[in-house]
Amino acid sequence: MSLPQEIKFPDVIQGGMGIAVSTWQLAKEVSSYGGLGVVSATAIDSVVARRLQDGDLSGEIRRAFANFPNQSVAAEILNFYFIEGGRKPDKPYLDVPKLSLKPSKLTNNLLVISAFTEVWLAKENNSGSIGINALEKIQLATPATLFGAMLAKVDYVLMGAGIPAEIPELLRNLADLKPVKLGIDVSDAKSKHFLAFDPKSVIPDTIDLVKPKFLAIISSHALAAYLAKDEKTRPDGFIVEGSSAGGHNAPPRSKDAIGGDGESKFSDLDIADLTKVAKAGLPFWLAGGYGTPENLKHAKEIGAVGIQVGSLFALADESGFTRVIKDELLTSLANDSLKVRTDPFASPTGFPFKIVEINGTLSDESEFDDRSRNCDLGYLRVPFERPQGGIGYRCPGEPIKTYEFKGGASQHNERSKCLCNALMADIGLGQLRIDGTTELPLVTFGSDLAGAKELVKIFPKGWKATQVLDFLHSGS
Ligand SMILES: Cc1cc2nc3c(=O)[nH]c(=O)nc-3n(C[C@H](O)[C@H](O)[C@H](O)COP(=O)(O)O)c2cc1C
Repeated sequence: MSLPQEIKFPDVIQGGMGIAVSTWQLAKEVSSYGGLGVVSATAIDSVVARRLQDGDLSGEIRRAFANFPNQSVAAEILNFYFIEGGRKPDKPYLDVPKLSLKPSKLTNNLLVISAFTEVWLAKENNSGSIGINALEKIQLATPATLFGAMLAKVDYVLMGAGIPAEIPELLRNLADLKPVKLGIDVSDAKSKHFLAFDPKSVIPDTIDLVKPKFLAIISSHALAAYLAKDEKTRPDGFIVEGSSAGGHNAPPRSKDAIGGDGESKFSDLDIADLTKVAKAGLPFWLAGGYGTPENLKHAKEIGAVGIQVGSLFALADESGFTRVIKDELLTSLANDSLKVRTDPFASPTGFPFKIVEINGTLSDESEFDDRSRNCDLGYLRVPFERPQGGIGYRCPGEPIKTYEFKGGASQHNERSKCLCNALMADIGLGQLRIDGTTELPLVTFGSDLAGAKELVKIFPKGWKATQVLDFLHSGS
């Protein structure tokens, strides 16, 4: 099968990096320079609500809100979260409602307008393509978030961390403004559960929407074949991500999944057979340690459209990481002391998660032990059927006793870290606790440092997104 000729796909995708590491500023810069710029959907409601509480000093969120198709929703959210001039330094952020199978109107409205805002800003005065990256693991946010992104005319949806089989159909229905039902994984369930979302509950008027292209992020050729075989589940392309990628990785396939060093241990079984991926007849990109000019060239030579790159863009000036984190990473890259490990237990999802060892962050075991466990954001909570009936929610990152009380297995949570709060801290939106402490960051980065080490020699103080694109294209 040959690839659709009429579509010109970008050869470099700037990977979606949550929470808000791939900001609209980063995605806009990449896309206006010819790449595919991708914003992150993860916890986007909290990101927008906290930026509003910090006063939206540059006015960008209110500018996007003014273009939202339902102004009563915009007014409701501003009324709830916007603080003129920003919150007082000793005032904690007001949290957004937690996701659930029966979301409130506020939850849906906030998710829709937040995703709209991030995409709208990335597309403002920009004719390039913009994508949004969502995690299959955070199913409860999916319909409302993707609908918000579609209202802002998002060009691509990218989704991994699970099997995104229902997404193509979901996008078709949302584009037609039809009510949707997404199947939800519920632990200990005796029956099937669905999350219902009606686009008309947020935007009552008729509006023309276009279905964005859908790229499934996968790590195995078997999943490519499975998704491609049926029109209902077929994406428009694949991103084949290897185990050195930053963020979450697919769990190792060998039984011997943890090495003597305590890290997740990957083997040849975890390498996708690209010939088989190509047989699905869809365009594909390669990710995970591909951020060098040689690798871009090589990827094209073996039949890929190009590459998806995360880590190099995470260090770009336009990314959401705080300047302190960027400088720490740049310094340790330059002096060759940057250590990234693949932690099998840190993420409540149970997927391996790449962690950079940095003192004063949650990678430091003493800091982790000192933190009072608290699950107040709850994006990674998993619904479960209670033995006595009804639905409960639990996260291995929550207090151990609470998790056990809810029937969670304790060995799953002792070493689970609260990624929600830590990743918010990575972008300068960490919560302030009543005892005066703030949540600490936990930094993720790819473990293949070749490209970053080359770039830091040229730009020791950091670089811009366009300089990453120039670097990647310098071999062609
Ligand atoms: C800081 C950071 C956060 C990431 N977060 C996500 C995420 O939320 N969702 C996702 O699909 N991939 C995520 N990734 C993976 C990237 O999108 C990309 O596929 C990967 O970084 C490519 O490998 P590289 O880091 O070697 O370039 C993240 C990567 C980094 C470095």
